[in-house]
Amino acid sequence: MNEFQGKRIVLGVTGGVAAYKAAELARLLVKAGADVDVALTAAGAQFVGAATFQALTGRRVWQALWDERMDSGMAHIDLTRGAAAMLVAPATADFLAKLAHGAADDLLSTLCLARDCPLLVAPAMNRQMWNNPATQRNVVQLRADGVSILGPAHGEQACGEVGDGRMLEAAELLDDLYAFLQPKLLAGKRVLLTAGPTYEALDPVRGLTNSSSGKMGFSLARACVEAGAEVTLVAGPVSLVTPRGVRRINVQSALQMRETVMQALPGQHVFIGVAAVADYRPRRAAEHKIKKDASSLTLELEANPDILAEVATMPDAPFCVGFAAESRDLATYAESKRVAKKLDLVVGNLVQDGLGGNTNAVTLFDAAGAHTLPLADKSEVAHGIVAHIAVLMEKQHGQH
Ligand code: C5P
Repeated sequence: MNEFQGKRIVLGVTGGVAAYKAAELARLLVKAGADVDVALTAAGAQFVGAATFQALTGRRVWQALWDERMDSGMAHIDLTRGAAAMLVAPATADFLAKLAHGAADDLLSTLCLARDCPLLVAPAMNRQMWNNPATQRNVVQLRADGVSILGPAHGEQACGEVGDGRMLEAAELLDDLYAFLQPKLLAGKRVLLTAGPTYEALDPVRGLTNSSSGKMGFSLARACVEAGAEVTLVAGPVSLVTPRGVRRINVQSALQMRETVMQALPGQHVFIGVAAVADYRPRRAAEHKIKKDASSLTLELEANPDILAEVATMPDAPFCVGFAAESRDLATYAESKRVAKKLDLVVGNLVQDGLGGNTNAVTLFDAAGAHTLPLADKSEVAHGIVAHIAVLMEKQHGQH
């Protein structure tokens, strides 16, 4: 993935054990396409040496105020110019205190003070240091100053104690930083989604399901969070990791999915049905395992409710988005689905382009016509869909 392509990130590293996670973060950022400039404090260098960061980023590490590499001789000013963001991870209690007071007695603190880009910090310290009123005061001040605080997490600490103060893991920081950089197209909006297949039990060990991977729905849930929305995801049986910041409710059958959606629906601004809901369920699920004592077996099926159509036809329905996965005649089927279910938007794709894989090619059908997004990674497609939803909602808002 190239989520950070063309972006330069200044990674500040101060003196905490969690500096080893900063090395991993530098690696992940570079892998995601970022140019990473590391600014290392003297204490940070006690934990992880400059050589490690240099090898991981392919760039010389910045450590001194008097570094002569900048033509201007002003590394403390020039380094953040043009950077997408500056992230200090780990940020010690001492560093937070310095930041809160605007101290500038080494390269990193001076960079923060003279910066021309957003600043994020990932605190890392012993739980008592974190809970100390002085640290908490500094955190409140930093928030008020517009600094984003990532974490800390709760858990076992290097000192053997358990509590708040652990730095987030490198992958979590990567996600949070990426989310931070996304335009907040759905700020203040609540979004409800369904994703994955449903599982309709035949007996205690067997059931009817389908091969939906849930990846598109999960990517979309994540993109909505990154766009600033409050997101609830009703997921059928899939083993995907819940995206950070998403409230997930697991369900099995279409009936459970419907009930959960109806309960979560009040107050939602957007409903996106991505789930591949089974059209039919066994009329009766056998209480005990069905035995193979007959030469043939007839299953009697009955129709499941159409969750999306039900939501979309409610009075005061939220902005409704449906998916149409077809094997042919995409435009005809998708457009008739949009009209029949009274949807604001239908995301259509040919099953051969999307099912199970990591990429998808979709066409968006709304009242104004069709709009094709290029074949891309599902997370990129998800951002394209979110952007389109935001534009349509804005338009609708303008009409009322
Ligand atoms: O009619 P079809 O099943 O192709 O429509 C697909 C769209 O409708 C998807 O957005 C899917 O999540 C939703 N759907 C639903 N409940 C059903 C069937 C489909 O919400 N029972």
